[in-house]
Amino acid sequence: MLEVLNLHKNYGSFTAVTDVSFTLEPGDVFGFIGSNGAGKTTTIKMLATLLEPTHGTARLDGFDITEHPLEVRKRIGYMPDFFGLYDDVKVWEYLDYFSALYSVPVKDRPGVIDNVLELTDLTFKRDAMVASLSRGMQQRLCLARCLVHDPTLLLLDEPASGLDPRARAELKELLAELGRMGKIILVSSHILPELADFCNKVGIIERGNMLAFGGVDEIARGLKSIKVLEFRVMDRASELSMWLHGKPNIQNTYLMGATTVKVDFDGSHENQVELVRAIVNAGYPVMEVREEGVDLEDVFLNVTQGALN
Ligand SMILES: Nc1ncnc2c1ncn2[C@@H]1O[C@H](COP(=O)(O)OP(=O)(O)O)[C@@H](O)[C@H]1O
Ligand SMILES: [Mg+2]
Repeated sequence: MLEVLNLHKNYGSFTAVTDVSFTLEPGDVFGFIGSNGAGKTTTIKMLATLLEPTHGTARLDGFDITEHPLEVRKRIGYMPDFFGLYDDVKVWEYLDYFSALYSVPVKDRPGVIDNVLELTDLTFKRDAMVASLSRGMQQRLCLARCLVHDPTLLLLDEPASGLDPRARAELKELLAELGRMGKIILVSSHILPELADFCNKVGIIERGNMLAFGGVDEIARGLKSIKVLEFRVMDRASELSMWLHGKPNIQNTYLMGATTVKVDFDGSHENQVELVRAIVNAGYPVMEVREEGVDLEDVFLNVTQGALN
C-alpha cells in the first residue's frame, strides 16, 4: 500500500506541491493528471526518494520515504520523463547490468531477464542492439529495466509522451497487465484521454494542489449532479418529450429524432427508477434507457476551471 501524507515541496519561496495526500492499494492503476508545471514530476521524484519533501511524507508498505529511503527504493521502479539508454549494448546486456545494480543474485538473472522481456514483449529483441530499437520498444525496455527487482510500486512519469498510437496501445495493455499482477502503478500525463480508459483511479493536480482524487465515476458524480438519460422508443418520441417536460427532476428535454429523447436529470437512483416506471406505465413503447457515460475530459475541465480562474 502507498500512503501519501501531506507531501509538500517548496523551491525557495515557490510552492510546487501543496500538501498532497492520497492512498493507493495493490492493483491500482492511478492516473496522475495535470498540465505542464502542475507538480507531477516533483511529486513523483519525492516518492522515488530523489527529492526531499519540505514537509509531509509517504509510506510504501509501511516504509517511510524519508526515514527508510533504501527500503523504499528496493520496492519501486521509477521511469523518469526523460530517460537515457545505453546505446552500444545489447538488450539482454542492458537488463543484466540493471539486474546487477539492483542486486539480483547472479544465478537468478537469466530467468529474471527472460521474464521481463516476455512481459514487455521484447523477447525477439533479446540480442538486438539497444540503439536499433524503435521509440516504443525503447520505452518498453526502460519499463523492463524498472521491473528486474520485482517492485511493488511503479512510478512512470509521462511514459506515453512521444509514442505513436500503436505503441501507446501496447503500453496501456502492459500497464493493465502489471496492475493485474497486483503492483501499484502511478502513471502521469498531461493528456487526459491517454489515461482515461485503463486507470481505475485518477488524481487531478493543478498548481501543486490535488483538486480531485478517486475513482473516475466517483469524481464525476461528486461534480455533476446532473446526468443525461436517453430513452429510445419504438415511436411517439415527440409525444414522450412533451410528456416528460416539467416532470420532477427533469431540467431539460431534447427530442433527438423520431425515436430518441434525452433529458437532463438531477434525481437520485430511486427517482430514476420511478421515472422509468412512470414512462412505461404511461404506455410509451420503451426499448432502451441509457445513462450517458462519464466523459473524463469534462471532469477534468470542470475540476480545473476553478483553479485556473
Ligand atoms: N528545481 C526546481 N527549482 C525551481 N522550480 C522548479 C524546479 N523544478 C520544478 N520547478 C517548478 O515547479 C513546478 C512544478 O514542476 P513539475 O513538478 O516539473 O511539473 P509537471 O511535472 O507537472 O510538469 C513548475 O512551476 C516548475 O517550474
Ligand atoms: Mg513533469
